[in-house]
Amino acid sequence: MKIANTFAQMKAARAKSPGLVGFVATMGYLHEGHLSLVKLARAENSLVVVSIFVNPTQFGPSEDFKSYPRDTERDLAMLKKEKTDVVFMPSVEEMYPPRSNSWVVVEKVTDRLEGSFRPGHFKGVATVVAKLFNIVEPTNAYFGQKDAQQVLVIKKMVADLNMNLKVIAAPTVRESDGLAMSSRNVYLNPQERRAATVLFKALKLAKTLRGKGESSAEMLRQKMTSLISGEPLAKIEYVSIADPETLEEITTIDRPALASMAVRIGKTRLIDNILLE
Ligand code: PAJ
Repeated sequence: MKIANTFAQMKAARAKSPGLVGFVATMGYLHEGHLSLVKLARAENSLVVVSIFVNPTQFGPSEDFKSYPRDTERDLAMLKKEKTDVVFMPSVEEMYPPRSNSWVVVEKVTDRLEGSFRPGHFKGVATVVAKLFNIVEPTNAYFGQKDAQQVLVIKKMVADLNMNLKVIAAPTVRESDGLAMSSRNVYLNPQERRAATVLFKALKLAKTLRGKGESSAEMLRQKMTSLISGEPLAKIEYVSIADPETLEEITTIDRPALASMAVRIGKTRLIDNILLE
């Protein structure tokens, strides 16, 4: 497993591979969710590149950039086990030199949900992912459905800007009690960790009600909201039943719908979603 700390090292490692290149972008502090993407990449490509870069531009001023969990040694051991070929760990200085003035802004799909609660977040995500794509030049790039809106933003960027690669979305990996794996779960104390299961419970409730034929999106939002509100440690930012492509809120569920939410458990902001078929 090669470690590339500079663009030049990354490009050199990439140049030697004539076959398919699979790429997984991460901010590190890896878990089985990340590794599921690496496994997919490993199965479908001859060279597997994983980036670890805590991207400052996607964090708001009052967000957790400084305290975001980091453990490079552990990450590298996990990636080695998955037979990763190249780990790309660029510096903030090389990624964002002082006079860099260009950004990638994906409009519309970023207006809602995460975009409305985290202004500027997707500008940071799209910019860093575009830069990573340009440096790594992958054939296939793998993203988690856990961040459903992020997948849509990346797919839109790739299509709109004619980027020459395929974006593949992979299912959300969960803990045994349903909590979606996330690097931020480490912030939760034991009491909060128990409370955090309320997100998946609300998604399951939506799925059950939909399965029984409920077609009012507002009814689902209400039932999910009241279930989550029953958890004293939980504070809802949004509960959404939306079109899975445009993320516009829907009224009547007569086609697949994305149930999603952002909930604060204590100080930790958690997101989750499920597709209602
Ligand atoms: P990060 O949160 O580290 O996630 C990296 C990738 O792992 C993303 O595609 C994310 O959707 C996926 N992932 C996270 N938790 C998952 C889970 N439980 N199951 C399946 N996949 C999961 O997302 C980012 O980093 C950043 O925004 C990034 C794309 C790297 C740009 O900085």
